[in-house]
Amino acid sequence: MRTPIVAGNWKMNKDLSETKSLLSELVSADVPSNVEIVVAPSFVVLESAVNATSNSTIAVAAQNVNAAANGAFTGETSLNMLGSIGVNLVILGHSERRDIYGETDEIINKKVIQSIEVGFRVIFCFGEQLSERKEGSHFNVVSEQLSLGLKGVTDQQMDQIVLAYEPVWAIGTGETATPEQAQEMHSHIRSFLSDAYSTEVASKVRILYGGSVKPGNAKDLFANPDIDGGLIGGASLVASDFLAIVAAAE
Ligand code: PGA
Repeated sequence: MRTPIVAGNWKMNKDLSETKSLLSELVSADVPSNVEIVVAPSFVVLESAVNATSNSTIAVAAQNVNAAANGAFTGETSLNMLGSIGVNLVILGHSERRDIYGETDEIINKKVIQSIEVGFRVIFCFGEQLSERKEGSHFNVVSEQLSLGLKGVTDQQMDQIVLAYEPVWAIGTGETATPEQAQEMHSHIRSFLSDAYSTEVASKVRILYGGSVKPGNAKDLFANPDIDGGLIGGASLVASDFLAIVAAAE
């Protein structure tokens, strides 16, 4: 039985006071004990978020990290810095990092490897572009992103990985993959894991769906056997919406 996860990717939203007020609504809410809840605020407020959630079951993730230990990397943040404020979970490979900031599979793979080596858990994101779905190459694109992004990750280390399938055409567009499209891809991902690792790994790894998940469509998406929760952008910025999505994952 895989424990579902609902993770809020706040992206570049919420300043300090907005972070405190959203988190105070989340920590005081009655949430199901069988759903893991994650929030990923901006770097600037991560430490406050760790403090605000310290007496709750909500975990705090970073939205990115640099693979290097330290050095002349202006504007970057290391794993050690995150660890020093109590963060040990990171989102990697998000399509906005890939498309806007040019992160390649190789760059992302370095970050994945370094993160798991120092004991972090990783929410690893991938997904096809609209043109790739239209031309029917989406399964191959996803398999390629998985094999390159997870290169060198051992069976045992897969315990530290959560996958997040996010079709790029569904991110922030209001257009969601249908539950059938999402299930079909999640089942493909599980077969990929069976072949690349083992059936045991394939049955253990949580695979989240992301892309315009809302209170109104979460239940139908999460009802599918291979969908273990969601990575939520826009709807994670409003407590009542996020909590409704958490409840849908129970
Ligand atoms: P969205 O974003 O829910 O706003 O579509 C999802 C994501 O980018 O993780």
